[in-house]
Amino acid sequence: MTHQNHTPFSLYIHIPFCASICGYCDFNTYTAQQLGGGVSQESFHKLLIRELELVSRALDAPTVSTVFIGGGTPTLIGSDSLTQILRGIENNFSLSPEVEITTEANPDSVDAQMLAELREGGFNRMSFGMQSASPSVLATLQRTHTAGASRQAALWAREAGFEHVNLDLIYGTPGETDSDVRDSVNVCIDAGVDHVAAYSLIVEPGTAMARAVNQGLLPPPDDDECADRHNIIDTMLASAGFNWYEVSNWAKPGGQSSHNKAYWTSANWWGVGPGAHSHVDGRRWVNHKHPATYAKAMENGEALHVDTEELTSEQIHVEKVMLALRTRAGLPVGELDTQELERAREFALQGVIDPVEFADGVVRVTDSERLLADRVIRELLG
Ligand SMILES: C[S@@+](CC[C@H](N)C(=O)[O-])C[C@H]1O[C@@H](n2cnc3c(N)ncnc32)[C@H](O)[C@@H]1O
Ligand code: SF4
Repeated sequence: MTHQNHTPFSLYIHIPFCASICGYCDFNTYTAQQLGGGVSQESFHKLLIRELELVSRALDAPTVSTVFIGGGTPTLIGSDSLTQILRGIENNFSLSPEVEITTEANPDSVDAQMLAELREGGFNRMSFGMQSASPSVLATLQRTHTAGASRQAALWAREAGFEHVNLDLIYGTPGETDSDVRDSVNVCIDAGVDHVAAYSLIVEPGTAMARAVNQGLLPPPDDDECADRHNIIDTMLASAGFNWYEVSNWAKPGGQSSHNKAYWTSANWWGVGPGAHSHVDGRRWVNHKHPATYAKAMENGEALHVDTEELTSEQIHVEKVMLALRTRAGLPVGELDTQELERAREFALQGVIDPVEFADGVVRVTDSERLLADRVIRELLG
């Protein structure tokens, strides 16, 4: 495949390993016990580097703007393997001078030395899954770390020279109080990070948490409570100098994630690793999901991806509107068709869409309505 244009190009690398599985999580990740044979955590990075070589041969040498190593728990494979993946990228692609290189980590899977090695190895952004400061919420989520570990990991990262550090929060966990949420946000502020992502808890079908909710052992998250908590988080972060730039993401000036923005602007990205999704020039596909199936396909020289889909212009349009209207940057008015433009005009009159920015050619859901962005998007698309 020849990559048609040189719009920002991103790489996502999936590490499908976790020490234990949190009750709410349905990501494509496995404990050593669940993995079974055919996969070695120690040498898995070599398979990923082989896929990177295949990607670079398939494309017309795009310059990489962002790299995100996610999981699972990428730091489980160690700083040396993660750095080797980065060398694999450098050997096969040119990187833009401002390239953003992030790895996710669980707070209890790092120490000061590992973070120093990652920084030294070329990573320039860390993202830690903190989730909450409350011991009881962390227990309900089946997290293996304390809130103190998240704060410590963020401080170590900054000491190691990471200018950009993100903490992920989850709000709306059964049993959580408003005061727990305030404590969580205060930890993020005190740790001096420049980015916070806060997601409302989703009870994913098939997870241990979904079973507990179905059996009546846990109440499901309450929508009104979640909306209140989003507002608490937003108010506290705003007064600490963070600005929202997507419904679930806040950053200090200079702290916005370019990788996030690549997703939200429907840029091109290639997902490397088992179950990773890709989106290049209007085509979307997903790799073999199980690490052993992925490894076998690689060993046999077979196609790594399944379920390729050519997006129609209608699908491309809908995705662009859906992603952009969740962002503070919004969507250029010119992207809307005649009927959508008419509905947008109506929304601007009602104050659902910012009327001043609308007059300037940008469709943006107002701050007060942004929690309802998904409804606005549905109605706008008709
Ligand atoms: C896949 S995890 C990877 C990070 C790392 N393994 C960790 O948990 O610390 C990325 C983030 O997705 C969010 N997440 C995962 N499952 C979720 C769910 N069911 N509801 C809301 N957020 C979720 C969590 O905030 C988590 O930090
Ligand atoms: S939330 Fe993170 S640590 Fe927990 S199972 Fe999912 S990927 Fe693993």
